Amino acid sequence: MRLQHYANGRTMQKYEIRGIVEKALKIQASGKPVFWENIGDPVHKGLGVPDWIKALVSKAVLTDVSYAYCDSKGIKETRSFLAGLSNRLNGNQINLNDIAFFNGLGDAIARVYGLLPFQARVLLPSPTYPAHSGAEAGRIHQKPLTYSCHPQNNWLPDLDEVNNIVEANPEVCALLIINPDNPTGTVWPRDLLSGMVSIAEKHGLFIICDEIYENIVYEGEMTRLCEVLGDDVPAIIMKGISKEFPWPGSRCGWVQYHNRTKCDAFSSLCDAIDHGKMTEVCSTTLPQVVIPAIMSHPEYGSWKTSNQWILFQKMTQIREMIATVPGFGCSGGGGAFYATVHLENPDESGLPLSVISETDRQLIESWMQPDQAQDYALTYYLLACHGICAVPLSSFGTTQCGIRITLLEQDENRFALLLSTLQDALKAWSSEAKKNRLKQKSAAQEV
Ligand SMILES: Cc1ncc(COP(=O)(O)O)c(C=O)c1O
Repeated sequence: MRLQHYANGRTMQKYEIRGIVEKALKIQASGKPVFWENIGDPVHKGLGVPDWIKALVSKAVLTDVSYAYCDSKGIKETRSFLAGLSNRLNGNQINLNDIAFFNGLGDAIARVYGLLPFQARVLLPSPTYPAHSGAEAGRIHQKPLTYSCHPQNNWLPDLDEVNNIVEANPEVCALLIINPDNPTGTVWPRDLLSGMVSIAEKHGLFIICDEIYENIVYEGEMTRLCEVLGDDVPAIIMKGISKEFPWPGSRCGWVQYHNRTKCDAFSSLCDAIDHGKMTEVCSTTLPQVVIPAIMSHPEYGSWKTSNQWILFQKMTQIREMIATVPGFGCSGGGGAFYATVHLENPDESGLPLSVISETDRQLIESWMQPDQAQDYALTYYLLACHGICAVPLSSFGTTQCGIRITLLEQDENRFALLLSTLQDALKAWSSEAKKNRLKQKSAAQEV
């Protein structure tokens, strides 16, 4: 086939958040209950959508307009409402024409990266939410350029490193920020955001800032990019309702163009995004119909706050539990609803073969692929032996190893069971790792 001539350079990143599901279903079918900790879907994890949101959606379902196409970039009143919300922060100002709706933020991410020139590079954080790294890798047919975020630094970057990478790579035309972050939950401090804006300004870059978790912050203070952007640096700020309403099945997210007219090339990128919306006709209408009513409802504020308090309590429990397990750390957190548990020594194996049944060992070995990072062994061990379906950290494009779990389990007893099961499992890994270390040490002494 002719396609074959072009297929070789393709770089496809695995999306382990869903990739792990097939294996977990096998474990479930074998009779072992599974803790589904892989995906950030609050509704699936039992967070009931409040009745007042359901009532507003039900009302909208009874109006014909919800069944119609809407404007290509989205319903005007809703875009105007959202531009108003952004402008109320007294930062960089936008109007309704600076907003375009998509069928979920994942759709927007794919579109924005896909419209960049082949030679251009977006500098991504490492770790990164795979929709961004996958879209970048798919476009450039290479591993994306990244700046590192270390657990020792609360998963935040070093601005000097970011600056040096930009200087060494003139093809970098944009910086990506995910705030609050997925997978680490880290909330960016205001001065660090300002530092990224300064780097962008110095080198003539634009910023892509994913703020889908902007209203899920349970520790520290959320600064939106528009508050520190100023009037010179162009940016595409990305938002959505999947997480905060929560309504992931709505497939509804949007982009905001900031400082659109400051640079012709950026302006024509925004034009191209808008043009793409026209050829697609429009995005899902129903969620756009109800966004203003939901976000202005008197109970919206307290609904968000009550969820934040629950997340804070869960994160505290996880931190306390991990502090009891040698060799593992839990940094980050503060926003979104994920917790990362990292291996302090990413190269050290701790697969506790002495306590794993022969069947489980064979299963784990059959799943492992050559050159996979240590955290795949950890993830498969947790799944096969303990029924915990987590996501390996290295699948978020980082050399750090560990797992990502969620803070979404709504049943308190089940959450407590998850933590105690995880604690026992990690302790077994940790003591096996210690044994291996001692063995290696005595082998080295013998030599
Ligand atoms: C950081 C981040 N951006 C974008 C998305 C995509 O959200 P949507 O459901 O709107 O496609 C997610 C989903 O998990 C996410 O975590």
